[in-house]
Amino acid sequence: MARKLEPGRLVIASHNQGKVREIRDLLAPFGIEPVSAGELGLPEPEETGTTFAENALLKARASALSGLPALSDDSGLEVRALGGRPGVYTADWAERQWFEGEPGRDWYMAMGKVEGLLAEQGPSVDRSAAFVCTLAVAWPDGHSEVFEGRVEGSLTWPPRGALGFGYDPVFVASGADLTFAEIDPAAKHAISHRADAFKKLVAALF
Ligand code: IMP
Repeated sequence: MARKLEPGRLVIASHNQGKVREIRDLLAPFGIEPVSAGELGLPEPEETGTTFAENALLKARASALSGLPALSDDSGLEVRALGGRPGVYTADWAERQWFEGEPGRDWYMAMGKVEGLLAEQGPSVDRSAAFVCTLAVAWPDGHSEVFEGRVEGSLTWPPRGALGFGYDPVFVASGADLTFAEIDPAAKHAISHRADAFKKLVAALF
């Protein structure tokens, strides 16, 4: 039986504003006071794991050192024709070294890289893909719980829509016509990989 999360402060162990916003929305009904790792000035650990679960646990455990329970999200895009890539390296594919030496993330470059690799396989390439999400909760005493979610879909090109974040403008969920960047946040929360993992977390921890 999973350990319950008591009402009170919970660190959202992420420095990604898009994820923090979505997790705050998803936590809103549960009497939790979310505070982000950025607001607490907590360092961002290096994601050295080779699975979503390892990276999620690394991030949650680092933020639980604050003395509060912490929730992290490790997520990414798995493209079938690319053997599941970019997978755990989804954020890295957007990494760009600007000339000032500051790393930045360029999502259009990342989406273009995926599209370029698909195009190399010809016009009849399998465009199916899934967003996957692993949520980890870690408590200051070392206990942790992990939950996994996924949403199946396909990749479209060119990117469409200005809502959401990351690879949302190229992802169309199965049975839908609009990309995740063209539907409002509530519609995305109803079906997303993060919402799927969240349902499992809620059932176990609240
Ligand atoms: P990480 O979990 O911080 O390693 O980053 C995962 C990356 O996957 C994010 O930075 C996004 O680019 C991408 N990603 C995860 N979830 C979503 C989503 O809901 N929409 C679009 N992109 C996402």
